[in-house]
Amino acid sequence: RAIQLAVIVGSLRAQSYSRKIARALAARAPDSMRCRFIEIGDLPLYNEDLEGEDPPRAWSTFRAEIRSADAVLFVTPEYNRSIPGCLKNALDVGSRPSGKSVFKGLPAGVVSVTPNKLGAFGANHALRQTFVFLDMPVMQQPEAYFSTVADLLDDKGGVKSSETAGSLEKFMSALEDWIRTIRPDDASFEA
Ligand code: FNR
Repeated sequence: RAIQLAVIVGSLRAQSYSRKIARALAARAPDSMRCRFIEIGDLPLYNEDLEGEDPPRAWSTFRAEIRSADAVLFVTPEYNRSIPGCLKNALDVGSRPSGKSVFKGLPAGVVSVTPNKLGAFGANHALRQTFVFLDMPVMQQPEAYFSTVADLLDDKGGVKSSETAGSLEKFMSALEDWIRTIRPDDASFEA
């Protein structure tokens, strides 16, 4: 079976650059990897009072989707030098109830995207900070910071240059290799 990679985009807008980069990454995933986009826009804001027998259905669906994945790729913009609230909310929802986090031990990759400069570095590293508490191993290298992203994309949302395409492909290939080193005994990855 192929590696099941959940892809979470940290932007809700229809024309999101982050989503375009996420799609361009998924299109270049190795053959042995299946990418599934998990949507976070309809998750009610996390509120412990709503836990219990009957939590919001959108929370349960999201948790089940992440549980069925072997690894997760986050592609995110930066809001005020950190991650967007929608993404933090998704992490909070998946991390609870206490002791039942769907993220624990799940290998992760991070790509940050901005139409501005600095590569959304703040968001990239704020996300990595949450992984410490979530106990998620994250691929350290190669890092992926996309600055002035509008210049990299064409009218249809595809990448313009073979150089960008090559770096996306390399990132996905490295992510696959790394997931296999993190989970070497995972029989589910056998063909
Ligand atoms: C931004 N933007 C932004 N950009 C950046 O590089 N660093 C930042 O800290 C911020 N802060 C920020 C806060 C808020 C509330 C908004 C709405 C925007 C600009 C941001 O990068 C730009 O809107 C991107 O297009 C958002 O990503 P998507 O939606 O294109 O994926």
